[in-house]
Amino acid sequence: MRADYRELDTTKTYLITGAAGFIGFWLAQRLLSTGCRVIGIDNLNDYYEVSLKQARLDRLSQTENSSLFTFLEGDIADQKLVNTVFSIYQPQIVVNLAAQAGVRYSIENPGVYMQSNIIGFFNILEACRHSYAGAQGVEHLVYASSSSVYGANHKVPFAEGDCVDHPVSLYAATKKSNELMAYTYSHLYQIPATGLRFFTVYGPLGRPDMAYFSFSRKIMKGEPITVFNHGDMYRDFTYIDDIITAVVRILGNPPVKAGVRHKVYNIGNNNPKQLMCFIETLEKALAQATGRNIATEKVFLPMQPGDVHRTYADTAELERDFGFQPGTSIDEGLLRFAEWFTGYYSY
Ligand SMILES: NC(=O)c1ccc[n+]([C@@H]2O[C@H](COP(=O)([O-])OP(=O)(O)OC[C@H]3O[C@@H](n4cnc5c(N)ncnc54)[C@H](O)[C@@H]3O)[C@@H](O)[C@H]2O)c1
Repeated sequence: MRADYRELDTTKTYLITGAAGFIGFWLAQRLLSTGCRVIGIDNLNDYYEVSLKQARLDRLSQTENSSLFTFLEGDIADQKLVNTVFSIYQPQIVVNLAAQAGVRYSIENPGVYMQSNIIGFFNILEACRHSYAGAQGVEHLVYASSSSVYGANHKVPFAEGDCVDHPVSLYAATKKSNELMAYTYSHLYQIPATGLRFFTVYGPLGRPDMAYFSFSRKIMKGEPITVFNHGDMYRDFTYIDDIITAVVRILGNPPVKAGVRHKVYNIGNNNPKQLMCFIETLEKALAQATGRNIATEKVFLPMQPGDVHRTYADTAELERDFGFQPGTSIDEGLLRFAEWFTGYYSY
């Protein structure tokens, strides 16, 4: 653990972009429960069901300390809006989670990635920079990167110092660009910034565009599921609570003052699972949650463009600096997901 480690400061204002998203919602919930003031922005786009984004916001409006939460519907690609939000609310800690996610979607819809992930992130950086006009300013910018920056790297586990110059999707290229842009702003304007390379995050109120979610729908409807690369894929699945615990530890601890105040961490499980093993565990969890027998037909297909064979996080740096390593097993995490999923969709 860092010698200067500080607990979360509940006197600060936290701005979360993408607050109606999966990770943003759970982060807002955790910060509110500890008594922090949270400002959330989200454009509520329809990349996946808007009703789920709304359900997350409804939960936040009913949660403990909900009066500390302000939600603003807006787009981070709108520079005027971003600047207005910064000048009105003056956040000290900014967490940029708003982005167009998804690897396969970026093949068909590249433009939206440039808007949200590049222009949007640029607007956040500029707003952080100009918030330094007086003695007060943004004390820490934390932003989502992704394990996809490792592309088709063969060396495992993936460590933060590995070469990440060969992204295999535009999504990955925008995330790597975010790391470079944040580094430059830290270098030029001394903005303390931390990038988080998340590894396949799953859990209750998760993202319907992700494979485990569509598998769950098909399993419950008794339809066959499509498994790419004939099931020979490994993912370092990370349970949402682990992600949030790591993020919360990082928020109050910007990179130390020596040199450029920019740092990147992997947040993954350090324990990749073969896709077929993950599917079997999911089937068991759904069976347990519903008390039904489950037997699903699998259709095996080749690898999809932009996909990678394996993700595997080296989490030594996170553990060294923050004394934390994600550790929720997929049995436990998928059961919690299955209980929520089958209840929410009334299966
Ligand atoms: N979930 C994962 O497994 C995972 C893995 C790696 C990286 N990430 C990154 O973590 C972040 C959060 O991911 P998530 O899983 O919560 O995704 P999510 O799609 O559920 O959340 C993102 C939210 O941002 C909003 N948004 C998108 N573009 C916006 C814009 N231009 N302006 C305002 N709001 C906008 C969306 O409406 C959405 O609610 C993203 O940056 C994503 O790329 C997630």
